[in-house]
Amino acid sequence: MSSTAATPLAAPQPAADPAPAPLTDRLGRVHTDLRVSLTDRCNLRCTYCMPEEGLAWLPKPELLTDDEVVRLVDVGTRRLGIRSVRLTGGEPLLRRGLPGLIARLTALPYAPELSLTTNGVGLARSAAALRDAGLRRVNVSLDTLRPERYTEITRRDRLADVLLGLAAAQAAGLAPVKINAVPVRGVNDDEIADLTAFAAEHGYRMRFIESMPLDAQGAWDRERMVTADEILARLGERFTLRPLPREGNAPAEEWRITGTDAVVGVIASVTRPFCGGCDRVRLTADGQLRNCLFATRESDLRGLLRSGADDAAVEAAWRASVAGKAPGHAIDSADFRRPERPMSAIGG
Ligand code: 5AD
Ligand code: SF4
Repeated sequence: MSSTAATPLAAPQPAADPAPAPLTDRLGRVHTDLRVSLTDRCNLRCTYCMPEEGLAWLPKPELLTDDEVVRLVDVGTRRLGIRSVRLTGGEPLLRRGLPGLIARLTALPYAPELSLTTNGVGLARSAAALRDAGLRRVNVSLDTLRPERYTEITRRDRLADVLLGLAAAQAAGLAPVKINAVPVRGVNDDEIADLTAFAAEHGYRMRFIESMPLDAQGAWDRERMVTADEILARLGERFTLRPLPREGNAPAEEWRITGTDAVVGVIASVTRPFCGGCDRVRLTADGQLRNCLFATRESDLRGLLRSGADDAAVEAAWRASVAGKAPGHAIDSADFRRPERPMSAIGG
């Protein structure tokens, strides 16, 4: 090209909605991540989550329909600057027609990046369909590699299914496949290095989560929680770790295992809270917006939708909820108050 050639003009841009005002709270935190619980039901009964007999599940008419989920995600992405959506539960793979719902979310004009948190039991049969529908990534919960221990922790004999599910997710390109484990003292804290080695070998990304007081039974015990410091000490016995820079507002602190490509992360919600950088809002399966996992109040978006509210009214309620967000959860302080709903009903 000659040096006198004019700079080519930019191609004409299609008319776009103006960028939405960010979804901010009073502390200036900008919220771009939405977690949507698709059901409060689960096919496991993890002891740190719910009792053997399960919980009083939400009646079907109270659950958001697919149309309602799509509408709320559309408002969030188009008018509020939501960019990523994580589908959770309970166990989200129990939701009927999930690939169809994912395809509809993927087809939205401001389609968010879609990920899913699952216990992995149903993943082997669904991974390819989920990927084809537009899902990008999965996090799979797995607390142990020992079949008997798995059955003790989850009260179901499904470890083999979860291992097949992990492999299917990897094969379907739902990458990187992440594994979440909650170490509990005297239960599986001796497997921290083994789980990490397993994940490293298979190309999964291992993350350990400090256990939080969100079980339905109210049995959480600070003494049985394994802290980030202890997790790192256990890892240090087998691996040499090099810290990685934190990814944006991600709650995980991550390390590379020296001499490998493997990455291991710790989510220290209790001992190193990351509330100051929180960019999340949550929608429960029955359409209640929560500005925090530990919020004690919810905003009834389902009620608004069902009373015929327009998008502007939904947007206003959503912004008002986020404006009232508390600075942090203070789990580790004496005056901490548990939320009324357990994690399986809120969405992880
Ligand atoms: N504390 C910490 N993590 C929990 N999870 C479920 N209950 C708790 C709890 N009380 C984890 C699940 C899943 C993720 C969504 O949260 O194991 O991996
Ligand atoms: Fe189900 Fe997840 Fe609770 Fe386990 S922790 S019972 S997989 S909702």
